[in-house]
Amino acid sequence: MELFLDTAEVEEVREIASWGILDGVTTNPSLIKKSGRDFKKVIKEIAEICDGPISAEVTAMDAKGMIEEGIELKDALPKNVIIKVPCTPQGLIATKELSSMGIGVNVTLIFNASQALMAAKAGAMYVSPFVGRLDDIGHEGIDLISQIMQIWSGYPEIKTKVLAASIRHPTHVLQCLQLGTHTATMPTNIFRQLMKHPLTDSGIERFLSDWADVEDAGNA
Ligand code: E4P
Repeated sequence: MELFLDTAEVEEVREIASWGILDGVTTNPSLIKKSGRDFKKVIKEIAEICDGPISAEVTAMDAKGMIEEGIELKDALPKNVIIKVPCTPQGLIATKELSSMGIGVNVTLIFNASQALMAAKAGAMYVSPFVGRLDDIGHEGIDLISQIMQIWSGYPEIKTKVLAASIRHPTHVLQCLQLGTHTATMPTNIFRQLMKHPLTDSGIERFLSDWADVEDAGNA
């Protein structure tokens, strides 16, 4: 089971990577825009901090352009960078070609199980179904994960990993993992929330205060 960070903020990657449990990072053009920084520099810095797969997204919309961009990114960036392409027919062509060249591809913007299946057949390393964006339009995003995992369980020959994306809260992460999702990518605040419980905080407070009493009494 892999936990990825969904961010283009290098300091956030550094923080979560320092916990020792970060398996990879996903970015997208909107996250790069939010960072206000140069795309390749950001990806390079992230890839030097985290040695798991780092997704860098192409912006060409035709297969030829996606393939060229993918190859250029692979050449310019560290080895652990993989190429993210949109789930369109042109994206499938690019996925097939890039995968056959040994380049890892993450097919993104998946909103139904048939898209996931097609991307897997094209040789994707990861397929990224978007849970939260389906919730946003009144669907149950988790149902999509459940459907995909059910299909995957019937076809053990599928080696493509299901990467649950557009995660909005810690419960989404746990639901995805309960369904057997290989990977979940989430923003930094969700990583922090996954490690947070008020009883842990109050428990520490009480232990420290009792220990201070022990020291005051000279019994330490
Ligand atoms: C995944 O790779 C995407 O970058 C991301 O999960 C999208 O999430 P959003 O719907 O919160 O933008």
